[in-house]
Amino acid sequence: MTKVGIDAIEIHTGKLRLDLANTFAPAKGDEPEKYTKGLGLENSSFPDTYEDIVTMGANAARRLMERRDLTPQDIGRIDVATESAFDNSKPVSTYIAGCLEQVFDGDFHHANKGERKFACISGTQSLDDAYNWIRAGRNRGRSALVIATDTALYARGDAGEATQGAGAVAMLISEDPDLVELSTEQGYGSADETDFLKPNQQFPSVDGKRSVQVYLARMREALEDFESVAGDTHPDDFELIPFHTPFPGMVRKAGLLGFRHMIRDTNVEEDLAGDIGRQPRREAFDSDDAFLDAISEYTDRLKETDTYREWYAETIDPTLNIARQVGNWYTGSVHVARASGLKHAYENDVDLTGKRLLVGSYGSGAQAEIHAETVQEGWEDEIAAIDLDEQLAARYDISFEEYERVHDVHNHDKQAEDAEEFTNPEDEFVFDGWGRMGERKYRYVE
Ligand code: CAA
Repeated sequence: MTKVGIDAIEIHTGKLRLDLANTFAPAKGDEPEKYTKGLGLENSSFPDTYEDIVTMGANAARRLMERRDLTPQDIGRIDVATESAFDNSKPVSTYIAGCLEQVFDGDFHHANKGERKFACISGTQSLDDAYNWIRAGRNRGRSALVIATDTALYARGDAGEATQGAGAVAMLISEDPDLVELSTEQGYGSADETDFLKPNQQFPSVDGKRSVQVYLARMREALEDFESVAGDTHPDDFELIPFHTPFPGMVRKAGLLGFRHMIRDTNVEEDLAGDIGRQPRREAFDSDDAFLDAISEYTDRLKETDTYREWYAETIDPTLNIARQVGNWYTGSVHVARASGLKHAYENDVDLTGKRLLVGSYGSGAQAEIHAETVQEGWEDEIAAIDLDEQLAARYDISFEEYERVHDVHNHDKQAEDAEEFTNPEDEFVFDGWGRMGERKYRYVE
């Protein structure tokens, strides 16, 4: 069977930076450690006044097409995943195609375009759509462009304000990919939940504490469902496990529960039994509460073992390096986590060719999905080509007062009086005002 997967990836970060420990925490009266240690975040990316989900997505896609020497004829579909859309009818992918047509010869009239919605998991669902389209033999030799783009802003004063971010990830999905092949096997955990939603409003209604529990519950279901088709998982099976990362502290919780699940009935559980005992089994307890207390105590002991700490440091922690600097990008977040882990391996001369990743996506509302990926031969060149470090270093560091202004500029309900930009656009698409039917307009700046 032909391999299908991610052939290339490009990342565009919002061009402003909010320093959470030094700028945001003091203004909020919080201790900096709540951000750096608790949530695991140092900075958030924000969009400059001329940036939005279209410019960020189009800029990532343009770089990807240029780098891979692609023309519109090479692309058979453009799918955009976002939960920051500003139009209930016209998809963001049409705007992005319009931008790209300003700079590439030819057009995308032949390309199927759409927009996927299921909170943060829709980026991964768009990968699925592209995968299925290629597998079905409908792609006529063409690749799909999947773009996950979001301005993840919360209402001022909401607890989620600590975890904001803005950026886009563009991915090329092709036969015989250079980066990773996607597994046919998938697992789902999906339920009607009200943890985080935007009922026709720009900023989310969030039950933050509950959202953390729903993430863990759905992720666990997805892992069990994945194992029902792919067989039991073992920590040694996967070099990296990128998760959806609303903030790194969330993944710390998911990683520990995932490890506990994977080692059950394995040599690892056995080897640790002398120090911390075996995992409590439900059938040995009279009540759920007694079992939950026992498993919680076991988990606390497991977290302190060298075995767990080493696994976490190698398999999970490298996937969080970028998130720590950019915050939550919603639909792009799990794809940033994958890139972060691969980048860390590349920079540390770890050869991942042929090695496997386990990828855990999540969207509120709620659904988790787990699949495996196999790293392909061309991965090093692909990862080396991403210029994210330069982009991160070039971000403009905003003060708290500037943060308040930027938040207002991007608030659809406010007419920001001072929308002056903080950075100078160069070689990129910018927002250029509204057209006569209320559409947003864009222009390429040399
Ligand atoms: N030193 C060290 N750690 C500290 C600290 C200090 N001085 N102060 C606080 N902390 C720790 C806390 O103990 C806590 O860690 P644990 O959960 O491990 O105990 C962490 O820092 C956060 O502190 P709080 O719980 O007090 O923070 P909060 O009440 O402000 O809320 C939040 C945190 C609920 C995650 C909030 O930021 C929020 O609502 N975020 C948006 C929702 C979200 O991201 N949910 C994640 C799952 S849903 C999802 O994944 C979809 C999505 O993308 C939105």
